[in-house]
Amino acid sequence: MIKKATVIGAGLMGAGIAAHLANAGTEVLLLDIPFQDKERKNHLSESAIKKLIKTKPSPLTLNSNISLIKAGNIDDDLHLINDSEWVIEAIIEDIKVKKDLYKKIQNVMKDDLIISSNTSTIPLERLVENSNQRFKSNFFITHFFNPPRYLRLLEIVSSKDSIPEYKEKLSEFCDVSLGKSVIHCNDTPGFIGNRIGVFWMIVAANKAIQHGLTVEEADQIITNVFGAPKTGVFGLLDVVGLDLMPHVLSSMIENIEKEDEYHKFSKIPDIVKYMLDNNLIGRKGIGGFYKLENVEGKRVKMSIDLKTKEYSLSVKSKIDSLALGKKDLRLFLDHDDKFANYAWSVLSETLLYTLNHAMEISNDLISIDDAMRNGFGLKFGPFELIDKLGKSWLTEKLCSENRNIPEILKNLEGEKFYIIKENKINYLNYFSKEFEILKRPDGVIMLSDYKKTNTPIKKIPSASLWDLGDGITVFELHSRGNSIDINTMKFLDQAIDIVSSSFSAMIIYNEGSLFSAGANVGEALFLGNIGLESELVENIVENGQKVYQKLKYSKFPVVAAPSSMALGGGCELLLHCDYIQAHIESYIGLTEAALGICPGWGGCKELLYRLSNSNNLPKGPMPAVMKAFETIGMAKTSTSALEAKKLGFLKETDGITMNRERLLFDAKSVAMNLIENYEPPEKPKFNLPGKTGLSAMTIGLESMKNSGQISDHDKFIGMQIANVLSGENVDLIEEVDEEYILNLESKAIQTLFREPKSQERIETLLETGKVIRN
Ligand code: NAI
Repeated sequence: MIKKATVIGAGLMGAGIAAHLANAGTEVLLLDIPFQDKERKNHLSESAIKKLIKTKPSPLTLNSNISLIKAGNIDDDLHLINDSEWVIEAIIEDIKVKKDLYKKIQNVMKDDLIISSNTSTIPLERLVENSNQRFKSNFFITHFFNPPRYLRLLEIVSSKDSIPEYKEKLSEFCDVSLGKSVIHCNDTPGFIGNRIGVFWMIVAANKAIQHGLTVEEADQIITNVFGAPKTGVFGLLDVVGLDLMPHVLSSMIENIEKEDEYHKFSKIPDIVKYMLDNNLIGRKGIGGFYKLENVEGKRVKMSIDLKTKEYSLSVKSKIDSLALGKKDLRLFLDHDDKFANYAWSVLSETLLYTLNHAMEISNDLISIDDAMRNGFGLKFGPFELIDKLGKSWLTEKLCSENRNIPEILKNLEGEKFYIIKENKINYLNYFSKEFEILKRPDGVIMLSDYKKTNTPIKKIPSASLWDLGDGITVFELHSRGNSIDINTMKFLDQAIDIVSSSFSAMIIYNEGSLFSAGANVGEALFLGNIGLESELVENIVENGQKVYQKLKYSKFPVVAAPSSMALGGGCELLLHCDYIQAHIESYIGLTEAALGICPGWGGCKELLYRLSNSNNLPKGPMPAVMKAFETIGMAKTSTSALEAKKLGFLKETDGITMNRERLLFDAKSVAMNLIENYEPPEKPKFNLPGKTGLSAMTIGLESMKNSGQISDHDKFIGMQIANVLSGENVDLIEEVDEEYILNLESKAIQTLFREPKSQERIETLLETGKVIRN
């Protein structure tokens, strides 16, 4: 753990890094140049700190983390860096300015101060030219990606002078405490991420212009072929900021060899020049390749025409040939239309560039694949993409175009860079030309690795049960959105029996892009639409309640390990586990009210239970009920695991893991500890406020309705939730059990599900992905 750090440069990256250090509990001194006004010398860093609170998405996992960051300026406060263990320089990308600052640091620094630069392109060797030996041995590059809280990649560069213990200390802190996927890169310009990733982006943009594609068409192809996020390439450029690209490119060009293929694509296209001249720099400005405009009172998405430079309504592209690649990407790439030709041109340039430079930029191909996945959000790294195509197909296609086959590809024996040998994942070491076993760091277990070499205990299309060894099983959801339907619930029921009879514990975990979007409301609506509404909805609700109760009172411990969204029925699943080991980026909420319904699988009951036992609320039934009412009624979702504790979804004793890749290991360790002497929880009793509570909540709803904050239907939903949480007609002195509240939940959700306005909310969500307040 690093307890104190200094960040120099309070710009976009420096402020973001300071915030993320604070998220890890590190105290931070944030320095910038002194402001001209002598009375307000810390103005630059002070205003950067203030801005952190307003920035969306928030750089802070909890707003109060900001109290760990203190402002200063380099003229008055540089000597204070010696109170820190680590100084991160994040000032402008100008080698001269950086070196001037290093000279000043060198003059005041203590012997064991670790220094690093956040440079995105300048090699370490050039940064420390003329520095003294002490500075050289303490100096590293730690390259964070923007935004530092959310982008997982962190590249570390060291030199022959670097002190190994410092390198170890930095790596461990960045990995375990900051939650970064740390990759050690060679000291080459742009390291791995910007060398390969920025090359890929500029090729994708340039080729789209050359092939006459619209931005939507190019984005759709890039998303499909590379497994990129929905933003594709132009949307991604808007996120990064077009203004940044000329700087990155010119710095890259300055630092790379003359023969490097980067030069072929480094000319800024006319359209981008035009956009830069007109301040169309992307999302942080008035818009970029895409922008939002008000048309007839509605926010609509516009996109730029790459030829005419005019904006028009953005329309989803329809590329029929893409369907060819659904099962086998090669079928699409072999097709002859402008879309397939575009895809192949970007893919072939990117793969050739990677293969030609891999040995220079990285000691292993895993780091390159990891960098592209974690820095650019791709589903597949370049070597994983080659494995999808196979060596023979790729070589043949390249040869047919008279392109040179890179040595690494020639040296590959067989079709793939990753193979399974003796039940272990192996990858090609391109230096020794031998396959080596893929080893994850201590404390990391990936279910994805495990799935490549094992078969599940039992599997259905939407979920699987895995044997993780040591008596521990993993219940994995893998449906669309990891939603929970009737079959998944049945399978969970069977999985509980299997674990009960043959194993010792269950972890509920998956490596999808979200933990669970909740109950499959589309299924319930469909059944309603074909006339099976009443009994089936009742069945879905009551069976769900039964299975979640069975999970809670099973004779083995259950640990949930969520990451990203756990909503509605997915949140209720978590709430029925003995322990939650959450990834810090967990967005947990009982969001049913937004869909016009209320939690029906025990969510109201479990949240009430947690809040009634919270040390942060005054005792007595009312505070817990009111807090649950606010959280459920407003469909509040946590923006981090820390906030989930504040909302009551997580108990104070539940665990938080900063690094996504360490989550399963941490959950397994907890499960192993719980196995010993495990007893199922005791059945709790509840004191609910009855009519008094109900009238307090009714008054609240009425005043919100009268002031126009909520609609009539919102009020109706609120009343149903209030009815459940107050305990309806219960007497304050009378204790009720879980079944009592479950019955009220069941009654409320069935009433709400029959409401046309609730059905309209669900239908709109399913059709458009949008939540409406009707
Ligand atoms: P920025 O322009 O937003 O902020 C730079 C800050 O440094 C400004 O607040 C400026 O006043 C301050 N500064 C300039 N000279 C200084 C000095 N001598 N002493 C103290 N403060 C000084 O720049 P940004 O984007 O935050 O970039 C910072 C570094 O991070 C650069 O090396 C950049 O290449 C790198 N980087 C940037 C990324 C991005 O997406 N913007 C991503 C990854 C790395």
